[in-house]
Amino acid sequence: MTARLLDGKALAARLRAGLAERIAALPFRPGLVVVRVGEDPASGVYVRNKDKAAREAGFASRTLHLPEATSEAALLAEIAALNADAEVDGILVQLPLPAHIRAEAAIAAVDPAKDVDGFHPMNAGRLASGLPGLVPCTPRGAMHLLAEAGVRLRGARAIVIGRSQIVGRPMAQLLLAADCTVTIAHSRTDDLPGECRRADIVVAAVGRPEMVRGGWIKPGATVIDVGINRLPDGRLVGDVAFAEALPHAGAITPVPGGVGPMTIACLLENTLDAALARRSGPALSGRA
Ligand code: GUN
Repeated sequence: MTARLLDGKALAARLRAGLAERIAALPFRPGLVVVRVGEDPASGVYVRNKDKAAREAGFASRTLHLPEATSEAALLAEIAALNADAEVDGILVQLPLPAHIRAEAAIAAVDPAKDVDGFHPMNAGRLASGLPGLVPCTPRGAMHLLAEAGVRLRGARAIVIGRSQIVGRPMAQLLLAADCTVTIAHSRTDDLPGECRRADIVVAAVGRPEMVRGGWIKPGATVIDVGINRLPDGRLVGDVAFAEALPHAGAITPVPGGVGPMTIACLLENTLDAALARRSGPALSGRA
């Protein structure tokens, strides 16, 4: 048996097309501002991709690019101005920030109703409390992929490998909300292969190339690989040893072309959710 591939590129394209249709039918254009501070080269690529995808879907998107020397106080003042701007529905502060700015201060400064990254402690707390709110984009994208895979979530054993604020923790909360029995594993977990072998759903988000081996995968399990790692030879690989996992898994996301494209699609989805909630007041629509 070989695993079915979960095509995130195709699913993201469908999601984006659906968002574009919904936006075209609105009497306003939802606004997104991506804030970039300094010259981190990878951030430059990410920010351009986000801005381009947002414009293509019909958002009023712009990038606020501030110089490397911007003080923390000046950044917080810029964020406060965006919070107060009625045309701005979503604010994303691209990470990493220069070392002299505390990321947690910038994240906490964003109005939780405009926090399309879902990183604000208010949104993290709402998610952990089972309340509606804005959810981090990558876990939201992973939940879409699981829905697309058509796998049973209720009662299933899921393992999330990695406990970051951006992926691991919110991913575990989303799986719990979907009635999975969730294990959060990490670099200090005893017998990680054994824990993994019990799981019907494996989400790998550790940032270590090909750490999850094929023999760790329960036959037929669904594998969501959040990792994107560049090897010395230039190849991009995930956190899962893909070729080894293929004969074991029932379905698996490739890297690239799996979770990656879903992150931007879900940023746009969050921005539309934020715009609709802010402008008409209803509770945020679903999670995935
Ligand atoms: N840097 C790398 N990924 C992300 C992300 O998802 N959001 C933000 N704000 N910065 C990032």
